[in-house]
Amino acid sequence: YIEQDEPKGIAHAIRLCKEFVNDEKFLVFLGDNIIQKPIIDFVQNFKNLDYDATVLLCEVDNPSRFGIADIENGKILKITEKPKNPTSNLAVTGIYLLSPIIFEIIDNLKPSWRNELEITDALDNLLKQNNNISFEKITDYWKDTGTPEDIIHANGEIIKKILESSGNKITDHITGEGTIIESNVKIKGPVIIGRNCHISLGSSIGPNVSIGDNTTISVSSIENSIIMKNCKINSVAEIKESIIANNSEIKDEAGTEKVFLLGEGSKLSL
Ligand code: G1P
Repeated sequence: YIEQDEPKGIAHAIRLCKEFVNDEKFLVFLGDNIIQKPIIDFVQNFKNLDYDATVLLCEVDNPSRFGIADIENGKILKITEKPKNPTSNLAVTGIYLLSPIIFEIIDNLKPSWRNELEITDALDNLLKQNNNISFEKITDYWKDTGTPEDIIHANGEIIKKILESSGNKITDHITGEGTIIESNVKIKGPVIIGRNCHISLGSSIGPNVSIGDNTTISVSSIENSIIMKNCKINSVAEIKESIIANNSEIKDEAGTEKVFLLGEGSKLSL
């Protein structure tokens, strides 16, 4: 690992890798970006063709949240970070194929309004200096999991993918070794439950729920949520669109519908 000691932007993080990358073309893949299709073809094209950078674009409904590319006659004209009045709906995804020329560009960048060295500014300067940037479009699933809603949505898609690739239907569920699901529990897939969990007393789980190892759930109903490992959930009538991190405990006597975003080790007695 090469650590970035302060959040000074994606371009700053890339610059830290100059010695590691040396003189080769390279791929940057932001950890919060999720796609389903392999990127090997994009990588092979970039290796074989003579581009200084390739960006992967994807149509979005909310362009002001992303770096946006303006395209004309099959060429990128301009890339703008989070424009207030977007002129295109093509987001630049967090998957960038780059060549070492980007390091010189980053060395001459100024921090943006959010005090970061922006990858978008680096790419736009690359364009302004007449470098050759190509683009490819992602037409299937891509998500920047920047909000809890995005994480929950991506989780549902990943569960479906895991079920399908292990020969199950998306309405199925899979459970890990040592997990006990009592007969009065209803499970509505897609659901994935880890190892050594105990789900009991009329609980209802799913759809789109993942549950980490060693978690116990009783008298509760959970849908569209991520419950991580070592959690204890008791008597919560309805948990929806929630993320509950490791080692959390919830006991809810009132038992009404709730949305939780809980950090690790939270203990709630309601
Ligand atoms: C970053 C980039 C943005 C890009 C997005 C993709 O945004 O700055 O250009 O569209 O990743 O995930 P951030 O996550 O820093 O807001």
